[in-house]
Amino acid sequence: MSFCILGTGSALPSRIITNDDLSQMVDTSDEWIRTRTGITERRVCTTETITDLAFQAAQKALADSGSSADELDLIICATISADYATPSMACTLQMQLGATCPAFDLNAACTGFIYALDVAAGYFSRRPDQKILVVAAEAMSRLVDWQDRGTCVLFGDGAGAAVLGKGEDLLAIQIGAKGNITSLYAPNGWGNSPFRSETMAKSYLHMDGQEVFRFAVTSMVQTVEQVLAEANLTKEDIAYLIPHQANIRILDSAVNRLNLPQEKCLTNIAKRGNTSAACVAILLDEANQTGKFKKGDLLAMTAFGGGLTTGACILRWSK
Ligand code: ACO
Repeated sequence: MSFCILGTGSALPSRIITNDDLSQMVDTSDEWIRTRTGITERRVCTTETITDLAFQAAQKALADSGSSADELDLIICATISADYATPSMACTLQMQLGATCPAFDLNAACTGFIYALDVAAGYFSRRPDQKILVVAAEAMSRLVDWQDRGTCVLFGDGAGAAVLGKGEDLLAIQIGAKGNITSLYAPNGWGNSPFRSETMAKSYLHMDGQEVFRFAVTSMVQTVEQVLAEANLTKEDIAYLIPHQANIRILDSAVNRLNLPQEKCLTNIAKRGNTSAACVAILLDEANQTGKFKKGDLLAMTAFGGGLTTGACILRWSK
């Protein structure tokens, strides 16, 4: 049921939007955003498509793993903001990479990367000797209402990727869902159907911030404790926590409740904002590329998101 991480990659749009830029658009301030969320800037797609970013992240992950696209046995993309309803982002990416393997998308909102790792683990249990590309890529700028100060200040765009191969480094993984369509949702439109009578809520992301906040802290703590127990480990064994980047106050509360030293909790929210499913994948890659991890380090990943979904895993770093 296990695998190892052979390589990682990430890609961001070039356009930086600062808190001051946002305060020209909606009634907000750098001070409010920084103190309530920890975010100072985020990247937003202008000319790039989200598939372009997924492609760049995938190419970097393949290079980091020493693999080529024709060695891939499967591509899984975690996204809620793909360029097309069909073809999937994974199929578009497969075409651009020149791969020939099966490819599909998965929607678990911000928990998408951990869900994708869990699905990949299932494929490895059927056939351990293979290579799977997992990409988490989001253009949240497509989903947020840029006139709603309560949500547009929180999100950013970006992509992260990992190439997985034969190995025994996934020590525990758990995913969960608690169906809920009121706390966090983004409805699809009905196109121009002449048969639809009801008017729908606008297709933007809607969020009850405080309810999500409470759910986030509790679920992050619980899921990390569950995977630690499943792997027969304690918090002291964790080298780094790689959490979903929704709000620095959520991270601080979760770290306090887990009684982990602050420096073990990796964060890039200040410069990236919340890139939904891509958060954990980008954070993993940035730590890998800056040489943060030592061989044998145990990494705990945790995320929560729309659904409401939750997930966590413990991975040994063996690169
Ligand atoms: N600038 C200035 N004021 C604002 C802004 C803003 N950008 N946004 C809201 N406010 C105002 C509100 O209108 C409110 O004003 P009022 O008191 O006059 O009514 C006041 O600030 C306080 O608002 P709260 O919602 O109580 O602020 P809070 O401290 O809860 O912070 C936040 C809001 C940042 C959204 C927080 O609740 C949060 O981070 N929640 C979790 C969000 C999250 O985790 N999302 C991730 C899931 S995303 C996914 O899965 C796709």
